Amino acid sequence: MRATYKTFFVFYVLISNVFVNAFEPISTTFVGLGFTAVGRKMYNYVYGESCDSKWITFNSTGLEVALDQKLFGQHVASRVIQKAVTGFMNNKKPKKPLVLSLHGWTGTGKNFISQLIAENLYKEGMASSFIHQFVSTAHFPHLSQIEDYKSELQQWVKGNVTNCPRSMFIFDEMDKMHPGLIDCIKPYLEYYENLDGVTYRQAIFIFLSNAGGEKITQVALDFWKAGRDREEIKLHDLEPALSLSVFNNKNSGLWHSSLIDKNLVDFFVPFLPLEYRHILLCGMAEMSAKGLEPNQDVVDQMARDLVYSPKSEKIFSVKGCKTINGRLDYFT
Ligand SMILES: *[C@@H]1O[C@H](CO)[C@@H](O)[C@H](O)[C@H]1NC(C)=O
Ligand SMILES: *[C@@H]1O[C@H](CO)[C@@H](O)[C@H](O)[C@H]1NC(C)=O
Repeated sequence: MRATYKTFFVFYVLISNVFVNAFEPISTTFVGLGFTAVGRKMYNYVYGESCDSKWITFNSTGLEVALDQKLFGQHVASRVIQKAVTGFMNNKKPKKPLVLSLHGWTGTGKNFISQLIAENLYKEGMASSFIHQFVSTAHFPHLSQIEDYKSELQQWVKGNVTNCPRSMFIFDEMDKMHPGLIDCIKPYLEYYENLDGVTYRQAIFIFLSNAGGEKITQVALDFWKAGRDREEIKLHDLEPALSLSVFNNKNSGLWHSSLIDKNLVDFFVPFLPLEYRHILLCGMAEMSAKGLEPNQDVVDQMARDLVYSPKSEKIFSVKGCKTINGRLDYFT
């Protein structure tokens, strides 16, 4: 398979050289090829991304800037993630892998923040072959096969960390995961120096879940009702209630999980429900991203059309910023 692509790649180089040579000396051709997106993609595909500092370097400033400019309305999550990831990456000898559990309503930025971490750690961003993403309903749908899933998941984690210690595992829809399944990766999250010759301490595990969203929203609502600034909400206002409610929630994927019991989750990261003004910011950013001139009127119209809760106050967007991409198409 690979050999075919290698042949094809060599062929591609030759052909492109013939074309470019008509106009340029050969020395610049190779430089040119190195910089063209297609050339680079082809090169990566054939020769592969490798598990070294050429492909994996953490950019702390980059993450800080991205969190600051691209993520809206999540001052708590931003701060926790920045600290947690920077601390972990700067630690030459971490005692265990980094384990983050992100909680909040849909569309509040949990997936997005994982993407920002990826983009500032792997040169290939989310396309990196060292990132492994699991979606409960897609990868582990049937309760009857839970034992198979467990051994499969263990093999995957072990195999991939053996390949590259700096691997990242993202588990989406934790709230839809069958209780008990995630506990099968517990040995890898513990404080072992190594396990059967594999060391897991460089890896990053991220769990995404809607569980706890109600609790977080209640806190945000209480602040709002008390006329307090949302930015005054601190991690300690949310985290204790969050970890308990996740532990005691049968639909959290972490129900009575030994991961919590044994304190293997380093941070529970709360994502606040988004308000109208945040939807506007998402909308403007989305328009820019689409290459459109950001237009306040269009974004306003789109934001007004969304559903907000609670019914009486209508403060928080029920779907966060999730559906605005498609909606903008409708309004522009
Ligand atoms: C890190 O990120 C900053 C901000 O995005 C960027 O200016 C800088 O070039 C990046 N550094 C590296 C080494 O990529
Ligand atoms: C790595 O994980 C993927 C799932 O994301 C799996 O398909 C693959 O077999 C794993 N690789 C190894 C070497 O175990």
